[in-house]
Amino acid sequence: MSAELIICDRIDSTNSAARERFSTLPDGSLFCAMEQTCGRGRLNRRWITPPGSAICASGILKNVAEPFHAGAIIALAALEMISGKLGNTCAYFKWPNDIYIGKKKLAGILSEGVFAHGKLSGIISGIGININQSAENLAELDNAATSLFCECGKTFDLRELYCELFNNFIRMYQLYQNDPAQLLARWKQANRLLGKTLEAIRPDGTRLRGIFSEILPDGSMMIDCEGSRQRFDCGDIKIDPETFV
Ligand code: BTN
Repeated sequence: MSAELIICDRIDSTNSAARERFSTLPDGSLFCAMEQTCGRGRLNRRWITPPGSAICASGILKNVAEPFHAGAIIALAALEMISGKLGNTCAYFKWPNDIYIGKKKLAGILSEGVFAHGKLSGIISGIGININQSAENLAELDNAATSLFCECGKTFDLRELYCELFNNFIRMYQLYQNDPAQLLARWKQANRLLGKTLEAIRPDGTRLRGIFSEILPDGSMMIDCEGSRQRFDCGDIKIDPETFV
């Protein structure tokens, strides 16, 4: 792979920039920014990243079988990088692609399809990871959030992290191409909410409460509700307050 790492100073959204360059950049390239002015989150939410404070990176994946797989590749690359900094503290995936520490969000992923002539030609998978924000900065966000600074008590050089993330991303993408089952098994293993009770909320507001019993090969989840099994592939997950993570 002749994938490229691009780090720009300032951009509206790395997902939008990667999309504009999708046909010219090689497969496996990672487009990153030191400052993102108009970041996008899942379900049309905004993603706020003050300059130099957080990772904003979007991977270009031209050979994935399912959109969820692209998220799994970049999520595993990020989890490996994060885990190396955390010592004994454990980070985990909260389906579909958030990374959590305890009950606080550290990172989120937005995967978007790229279409040509009505056909899917690849996925842009963008990740935002809270790095150098203080607890005061994070308190301004809606949901409970944490950062590497809050967890480790030190600041990090974003450019060094981008190089590490890129190397991990390329390795995970190669693993996926050689042995997709192994990559997906790793993703499943790090999904610590499997087997736990939770509430899943669809974009139209309908709710499912039950046990997260399985991740299907396409990446969607199965929830065992009272008397029925339901497939869930889009929306928000609320961790049950009683759940130990
Ligand atoms: C979420 O809602 O949890 C997903 C957030 C994804 C944010 C990242 S930051 C890099 C990339 N560029 C964007 O505009 N969004 C994603």
